[in-house]
Amino acid sequence: MKALVLAGGAGSRLRPITHTSAKQLVPVANKPVLFYGLEAIRDAGIREVGIVVGDTAAEIQRAVGDGSAFGLEVTYLRQDAPRGLSHAVLIAREYLGDDDFVMYLGDNFIVGGITGLIERFRRERPQALIMLTKVSDPREFGVAELDAAGRVVALEEKPARPKSDMALVGVYLFTPAVHDVVAGLKPSWRGELEITDAVQGMIDAGHRVESTVISGYWKDTGNVTDMLEVNRLVLESVEHSVEGDVDEASELIGRVVVEAGATVAGSRIVGPVVVGAGSVVRDSYVGPFTSVDRDCSVIDSEIEYSIVLRGASIDGVGRIERSLIGREAEVTPAPRVPKAHRLVLGDHSKVQISK
Ligand code: TTP
Repeated sequence: MKALVLAGGAGSRLRPITHTSAKQLVPVANKPVLFYGLEAIRDAGIREVGIVVGDTAAEIQRAVGDGSAFGLEVTYLRQDAPRGLSHAVLIAREYLGDDDFVMYLGDNFIVGGITGLIERFRRERPQALIMLTKVSDPREFGVAELDAAGRVVALEEKPARPKSDMALVGVYLFTPAVHDVVAGLKPSWRGELEITDAVQGMIDAGHRVESTVISGYWKDTGNVTDMLEVNRLVLESVEHSVEGDVDEASELIGRVVVEAGATVAGSRIVGPVVVGAGSVVRDSYVGPFTSVDRDCSVIDSEIEYSIVLRGASIDGVGRIERSLIGREAEVTPAPRVPKAHRLVLGDHSKVQISK
């Protein structure tokens, strides 16, 4: 069995971060989200991985290399434009050959890995096995309609009127039977070759398509809110470890990771928090569920429930919360400008103005 990891795409929901970098490389607890997926694939006993890349190919290749650091053999498959998840299968046809494969979306995060899923696929040999999870707003997802026995009867991509609240999670298992269906697909209304259409095509062709509801946690990290939530979840399980310098005037509370070469001075850090190698935290407060990547500086500021990417600096800006700060970004106070309220108030008005 091979793996097909999708690390192309436009990443429009994570702009402006994705203007300059791949969304699959945004770090969660200072490790790119893509790496968690590659580790899950390796832990499931798969070695051969095809990674579909687009405009950010060079960056992904720099980060993952030949895969040997993960115990994998990686082949890069270039997709000329984000033409859909089924298009990625189409361009991978030759690489996949006649092997079964697991397709894994490179920006998805699944707690608990995929070993159980792959074991079930090998045991029961359906032509496709999809993973589902209950979601609160199915209109944003690929949605599966199930019959009373739990078998998949129909699939729809981002339906206006969803027939169930079971969304497709970003992991799919296929036998080579999928290729004939993919070869005959037409682009959807949004111009993409949809994976839901491929799975629907398999059902229509009489193939056995099964589903499993994931027990663990799943998030598509395509937007900032979900990214911060995944970061929180991963930080929940970090162990306290201080290898960098922390001065006497600083206080570390709870589980805090200060990597080697990081400096904390005159600051209060309330975990779970990670401070990456080479970063400086001075005269600041860093609150729970914050990841500060390598070579950042947080000076005379407060930050909580946020992700700070490599080389960013935050200096003298008061409090920051629920934020994603890009690489090498600089956050500084605005110069003071006189503020004035201009009012035309009726008689007996009562107005509250924040100072
Ligand atoms: P999506 O999040 O569905 O698409 P996107 O990356 O274009 O993002 P957005 O909706 O914010 O514009 O993609 C899921 C994963 O699959 C993601 O890792 C990108 C990847 N992908 C490809 O590799 N090729 C494609 O043609 C598409 C659509 C996605």
